[in-house]
Amino acid sequence: MSRFKVTKAVIPVAGLGTRFLPATKAMPKEMLPLIDKPVIQYVVEEAVTAGLEDVLMVTGRNKNALENHFDRVAELEHNLEQKGDTDRLAKVMASTDLANIHYVRQGDPKGLGHAVLRAKAHIAEHSFALLLGDDVIDARDPLLSKMLEVHESTGENVVALMEVDPTQIHLYGCAVIDGDAKDGVVRITGLVEKPKNDEAPSNLAVIGRYVLRPEIFDILEDTKPGRGGEIQLTDALMAAAQNPDRAGGVLGVIFKGRRYDTGDKLDFIKATLRLGVDREDIGQDLRAWLHEFNNEI
Ligand code: UTP
Repeated sequence: MSRFKVTKAVIPVAGLGTRFLPATKAMPKEMLPLIDKPVIQYVVEEAVTAGLEDVLMVTGRNKNALENHFDRVAELEHNLEQKGDTDRLAKVMASTDLANIHYVRQGDPKGLGHAVLRAKAHIAEHSFALLLGDDVIDARDPLLSKMLEVHESTGENVVALMEVDPTQIHLYGCAVIDGDAKDGVVRITGLVEKPKNDEAPSNLAVIGRYVLRPEIFDILEDTKPGRGGEIQLTDALMAAAQNPDRAGGVLGVIFKGRRYDTGDKLDFIKATLRLGVDREDIGQDLRAWLHEFNNEI
């Protein structure tokens, strides 16, 4: 097996989800449903579709709902079986049989970098994919498989980038790039976390998909708490970009498809509608209603 072949995915789901309070007071934001599936299931499905069936979730408080969702529910299965409701039974079983899911606790949510560090023992000496648990990439626009290909062929760290309106760049980590994109791939020489709009080095925002080399753990261990007292993954990636001999450099894959930040209320509503209008069961009615509604507002 090539040194850079990836088989494991890490999904951090331990954030406090403060933008979605009070819905996230007793439930992780990753359990909020987009139509009829919790956000986290879309993310696990994306990992599995890219060939990664070993999934480690980094959980925080309120982890029970997450674990239960991917576990068996004998009583419910029995009830649906008795009724002969095979469709719903299949839907219930789909999340149980999806992947080999492992869990580790983060303890205090001290930032994304800190959450990633909790995966060190499980990942050991291999490269891995990191998928943020509240970031949904539309399954119709694949991204992760391309990132894995780039990683396997170059051995470099790979992050997903998206062009955003320059007035929005202050909400993201922003990439400093060297040269032009070749086949949608750029060399990243620096990263700035949430820059002021007029100081941003580009309009390329980092979104929640990464393929990382295991050396990132050593860098994270040396990374001091940054913005907000949290250990920032961006700071560790910046160190990797500036010192390629230590941990490989950093490449960016520019994504042009549909992506939803479901931790953000407005994006969450947009995601529900975008996915809803193409659904076989509710799409037609939802479209008709949206046209009517458009005349009302
Ligand atoms: P966010 O910054 O979007 O999560 O982290 P948050 O802190 O929960 O958000 P708000 O701003 O308070 O609403 C991106 C991903 O990283 C995870 C989150 O669960 C989310 O999937 N995360 C973040 C952790 O696992 N641990 C942390 O300490 C921080």
